[in-house]
Amino acid sequence: MAGLRVCVSDFEEEAKKVLPKAVYDYYRSGADEQNTLADNVAAFKRWLLVPRVLRNVSTVDLSVSVLGQKLSMPICVAATAMQRMAHAEGETATARACQAVGTGMMLSSWATSTIEEVMSAMTASLDGVLWLQLYIYKDRELTLSLVRRAEEAGYKAIFVTVDTPYLGRRWDDMRNRFKLPPHLSMSNFSSASMAFSEGNYGNDSGLAVYVAKAIDPTLCWDDITWLKKHTHLPVIVKGVLNGEDAVQAVNYGVDGILVSNHGARQLDGVPATIDVLEEVVRAVQGRCDVFMDGGVRQGTDVLKALALGAKAVFIGRPVLWGLACQGEQGVTEILELLKEELHLAMALSGNIHTHTHTHTHTHTRHLPCGNTHLSTIFLHSVCVGCVVCVCVCVCVCVCRLSFCI
Ligand SMILES: Cc1cc2nc3c(=O)[nH]c(=O)nc-3n(C[C@H](O)[C@H](O)[C@H](O)COP(=O)(O)O)c2cc1C
Repeated sequence: MAGLRVCVSDFEEEAKKVLPKAVYDYYRSGADEQNTLADNVAAFKRWLLVPRVLRNVSTVDLSVSVLGQKLSMPICVAATAMQRMAHAEGETATARACQAVGTGMMLSSWATSTIEEVMSAMTASLDGVLWLQLYIYKDRELTLSLVRRAEEAGYKAIFVTVDTPYLGRRWDDMRNRFKLPPHLSMSNFSSASMAFSEGNYGNDSGLAVYVAKAIDPTLCWDDITWLKKHTHLPVIVKGVLNGEDAVQAVNYGVDGILVSNHGARQLDGVPATIDVLEEVVRAVQGRCDVFMDGGVRQGTDVLKALALGAKAVFIGRPVLWGLACQGEQGVTEILELLKEELHLAMALSGNIHTHTHTHTHTHTRHLPCGNTHLSTIFLHSVCVGCVVCVCVCVCVCVCRLSFCI
């Protein structure tokens, strides 16, 4: 019998035992040497929370408004492809779990359930928030048909992924010659070639071959204009990692920016997302909402992202681990776990709301805090450079001193 699951890594451990190796590898992997994969998680630990005390935290309100929708917490579900490999109910189970917890789910273009199926899996009488993650295909009519279907089904926004002109090199998937099991397909597409269900993808990651064939590598900023012209839904760019691109995105009229490195699955060696969040928030200057994903595994990670200016965070792999462990119930448990952790972290740091914008922190020193909002949580990055600087200063002083003497 499975042990008690008290943190996200307990779910991963159990998921690893129940998933076929090639599926676990596909879900877990990052690109190349996976340096960024490790850093996405490690970087959170370099940021410290500086709590306040004696602030009456008997009531903590985690609710937040994301793209015009009220959610119970600032933790949403990121697009992860092919969820029926983790559990027979796949994306439909995830959507029901999100609805139960009161948060939003971003459905992957590469889902193994259709846009319509996922919407109708949710209880009609309850509010449920779905967004569509969009890959832009070489076939633009096909791309727009996904957008139209999402609009008709009642999805609330389009997250367009901009970091995947080609697929990153994921060594395990190459070794495993990763492809979908024969009983599954990318359900939103009718032809075998677009549904990733052809028989033979050669000696490579099947998904890398698929992307090279189907996804449009000519994508550029004008395509954001093109997309916005064809939909009335809010458009959010997913995959921005610096202030300059963030400004460009705002200039092209996006409704939001998701700071993401695709869960470290595209270009290895890019910064951890939490480390670039502040730069993006500063560049945007409040002109649109900024979200982040990558490496969020604890409530304190969420709190750090909020304190650095994110409106909400998204989680990818933890949901897959929950799904693999126990379907809808497992995803519900993961979401409730993170919600509970965030609630406690908020209270222990002296904060009672999530909806006040965060702006101030320093890499080098703690700053005093003032009121009962997140803007009062200051963080600082533990910097190896600081330790070196202090050592150098001490050495210089000692040398000067001995010279004087
Ligand atoms: C197995 C897997 C599949 C993914 N599929 C997609 C996808 O179809 N579209 C997309 O834009 N991002 C995809 N992503 C990236 C996620 O949306 C998200 O950016 C990332 O998982 C966040 O990092 P985390 O897994 O550390 O939480 C995928 C990530 C994983 C792990």
